[in-house]
Amino acid sequence: MPKKTVLDFLEMKKRGEKITYLTAYDFPTAQLCEKAGFDMLLVGDSAGMVVHGYSGTVPMTMDQMVQHAQIVRRGAPNTFIIGDMPFLSYQTSVQDAIYNAGRFYKEAEVDAIKLEGGRRVVPQIEGIVNAGMSVMGHIGLTPQSSGQIGGFKAQGRTAETAMELIKDAIAIEKAGAFALLLEAVPPEVGKIITETLKIPVLGIGAGMYTDGQVLIVGDMLGYFEAFTPKFVKKYANLAEIIEKAFREYIEDVRTGRFPEEKHCYRMIEGEHEKLEALLKKGIPE
Ligand code: KIV
Repeated sequence: MPKKTVLDFLEMKKRGEKITYLTAYDFPTAQLCEKAGFDMLLVGDSAGMVVHGYSGTVPMTMDQMVQHAQIVRRGAPNTFIIGDMPFLSYQTSVQDAIYNAGRFYKEAEVDAIKLEGGRRVVPQIEGIVNAGMSVMGHIGLTPQSSGQIGGFKAQGRTAETAMELIKDAIAIEKAGAFALLLEAVPPEVGKIITETLKIPVLGIGAGMYTDGQVLIVGDMLGYFEAFTPKFVKKYANLAEIIEKAFREYIEDVRTGRFPEEKHCYRMIEGEHEKLEALLKKGIPE
């Protein structure tokens, strides 16, 4: 399958074909994602929580994010990959935003970047787009500013706050973004924004009417156990499977059930006898 482009995603929206999207941070997961056939992958700063064990996404740095993106690119060479701009990589100035978006492109060969915020990041989106890169906006629950919005909470639940989100979505499209990620809003709001915009709207906890869905890989595989948001559907319970495997291995080692003959290398024929004979003469100093 050839790698999809921003134009393919526009066409998919027009045809009403849902876009499939997942986060990935490591090589084996990226390989499996490409094999399974996702339309796009996000190297999300959720890596801060899922992989690095922080309580939020704010501590992630550009160097860490670029390294995750390089790894994912190696695992999924033919998939559209989006690098997530970490906290303080774009809020500080348009110049910083262009420079750091460019790092994702030059060092990790991403196809697009994503950044959080509505009207207040329009200059950054315009700057990055004018420099020749593709931008996905991100509004609703924006984890980098979760402190300001009162935590990891659903957004746009009143007419007034929903209207602010609609205005943000329109501003992001006007600024030149190729797509928008909408997080943790009621389905009615997801529907209005999806129908209002020409660009694809990808939802996470934004209901069933968006042009596509994204989930965090650790959540949907049941691997990340710290907390599970309401919008997650678990497609596996890897935590249980992995812990069971670890316990069995510990037990096997303790009881001598592992390793067995079949896990052992053999000496070349005749070499063991030679070694025994040499040992009888003593180990040379
Ligand atoms: O960092 C991330 O994984 C995200 C999710 C909300 C998709 O932005």
